[in-house]
Amino acid sequence: MEQLLSEYDVIIIGSGIAGLYTALKLNSDKSILVLSKDHIKNSNTNLAQGGIAVTFNEDDFESHINDTLKTGYYYNDEDRLRMMVEEGGKSINTLIDWGVNFDSNNDGTLLLTKEGGHSLRRIIHYKDTTGEEIIRGMLNTVATRNNITLVSHVFAVDLIVRDEGVVGIKVAQDRCIKPIYANQVVIATGGIGELYKNTTNASIATGDGIAMAVRSGVNVKDMEFVQFHPTALNAPGHSHFLISEAVRGEGGILRNESGHAFMDGYHPLKDLAPRSVVSKAIFEESKKQGNDKIYLDITHLAEEYIKNRFPNIYNECLKRGIDIVNEWIPIIPVQHYMMGGIETDAIGRTNLEGLYACGEVACTGVHGANRMASNSLLEGAVFAFRVAEDINASHRKIKLYKTDLSYIKDENNIEIHAYINQLQEIMSDYVFIFRNKSNLIKALKLVDDLSDILPEKCTSQEGYELRNMVLVAKLIIKAAIDRDDTLGSHIIEGEY
Ligand code: FAD
Ligand code: SIN
Repeated sequence: MEQLLSEYDVIIIGSGIAGLYTALKLNSDKSILVLSKDHIKNSNTNLAQGGIAVTFNEDDFESHINDTLKTGYYYNDEDRLRMMVEEGGKSINTLIDWGVNFDSNNDGTLLLTKEGGHSLRRIIHYKDTTGEEIIRGMLNTVATRNNITLVSHVFAVDLIVRDEGVVGIKVAQDRCIKPIYANQVVIATGGIGELYKNTTNASIATGDGIAMAVRSGVNVKDMEFVQFHPTALNAPGHSHFLISEAVRGEGGILRNESGHAFMDGYHPLKDLAPRSVVSKAIFEESKKQGNDKIYLDITHLAEEYIKNRFPNIYNECLKRGIDIVNEWIPIIPVQHYMMGGIETDAIGRTNLEGLYACGEVACTGVHGANRMASNSLLEGAVFAFRVAEDINASHRKIKLYKTDLSYIKDENNIEIHAYINQLQEIMSDYVFIFRNKSNLIKALKLVDDLSDILPEKCTSQEGYELRNMVLVAKLIIKAAIDRDDTLGSHIIEGEY
C-alpha cells in the first residue's frame, strides 16, 4: 500500500477527469497527491458513454453557445460558457496528446455524433465507452510523471482550515485519521447520485466534496438543479445502466407501450429535445397509459452498425436478456447529474483561500438550470486546465504543521445502510423530477429527523458518507423550497 507523506505541494481529491486533468497540467516541479476513495477507476468519468461536445471551428462557437443557453433555460453564466466553448478545442487536443483515442473517419477527421439539445453534430466519442478511454489515456500519462502520487482507497474526511485559508485535509486510511498538508487543495469529488434510489452514477457519488466544503464555510450554489437522464435501462438494480443519448443521436426512437413515437407531440427536436423535456414527456406518457412501459427502439438500424457503434450497450443489455438488435429497450428516467455545487469563479477558485473545485462537484454556472449533453466532460477538462494554470502561477506557501494520528472505530454498517436507504427513499419520493412545496417541506422534516437519530460518531467510510449525504440532501431540499417557479430541471408539479 502506498505510504502517504504528511505534506505535498498540492492535494487533489478525486481521480476522474477533473482530478487527473488538473494533476497532469500542474508543473512537474510540484509534488502532487491525487486521492480516490475507492479503486481509481470507480468514477462517473469512467462510465461516460456519449462523448465530449467540442467545437474546433470558430464559426460554430455561437451555435454551441446558443444550444447550451437554450438547454440551460438561459440561466447560464454566459461569459464562462463562451470561455468554455472557445477554450474547449485546446483542452481536448491536450487529451489527445496524452494518448486518448476518439473515433475517426477514414481520412483521420474525428467522427461526430449528436445528442439532446444539440443543433449540430459536435460530439467526439470513443464508441460508447468514451469515459473509460479518457481514464485509460490519462492514467497511462500519469504513470510517466514522478511528481504525481496516485493513491486509491483513501477517504478525504474534511478540510483543515486555519486563519490563512485551507492548509490541508484529514484523511481516513487503515482505520486511522491523518492530516496531510498542502499549499493548495483541489476538490474534484464528482456528483451526488447516491442520494437517490435510482441513479446512473458510480457508487462514489455521495456528495463528499460539497459537504466538506460547506462544513468549512465554503459557498455552494444552484443546489436545486439535479438532472435526471431520461433513458436508463429499466431493469432491476440500484445503479441503472445508462442507454446513451447518442443512441437517439444515431436514430433511436422513443415509443410508448402501443409503439407510438410520442416525442413528436412534445418538442420540435423530438427525441433529441433537452433532457428535462424528454423526462417530462416520458412521465406524461406513463401516466396516460397507466404504467412505466416506455421503450427506446433502434431495431431499424443495421445489426453490424449497432454492434460496432454501441458495443458496451449491446453487451450490457444482452447480459440482462435484451437483444437490442431485435428488441425495444425498456427505459426509465433516473438521477444523472448535479448542476449545482461548490461555487467557483472563472478559474475554479472558491471563497476559501487556497481551495479550488472543478468537475461535477463545482458550480461554474456554464450549464445553467439544465446541462446540455456531453458538456460535462468538456467543463471538467477546461476548468481543470484553468485551475492548474492558477496554481502554477501561485506563490502561496503554508506554514508547516505537526502531524497527529487518531484512530477510528467501525460502526455497525447494517445500521448505516438502513439510514442510507431511508434517505434515498425520501429523496426519490419527494425531491424527484416533479416537485411541490408541501412534499419538499415534508422531505426536509424527514431528513432533519433522520439526522437527529444518526449515530453520534459516524466514523466508518459509510458513516462519513451518510453524514455527507444527509447534509447535501438538506442543501438540495432547502434550495428547492426557496425556488417558487419551474426552471430547467427544477419542475413544479402542474407547471409544465
Ligand atoms: P468523477 O469522475 O465522478 O470522479 C470523482 C472522484 O472523486 C473519484 O475518483 C472518487 O473516488 C473521488 N472521491 C469522491 N469523494 C471522495 C472522498 N471523500 N475522498 C477521496 N476521494 C473521493 N458527461 C459528458 O460530458 N459526456 C458523457 O458522455 C457522459 N456520460 C455519462 C454517463 C454516465 C453513466 C454518467 C454517470 C455520467 C456521464 N456524464 C457524461 C457526466 C460526466 O461523466 C461526469 O459529470 C464527469 O465525468 C465527472 O467527472 P469528475 O472528475 O468531476 O468526477
Ligand atoms: C449520455 O451518453 O447520454 C450521457 C451524456 C451526458 O451525460 O452528457
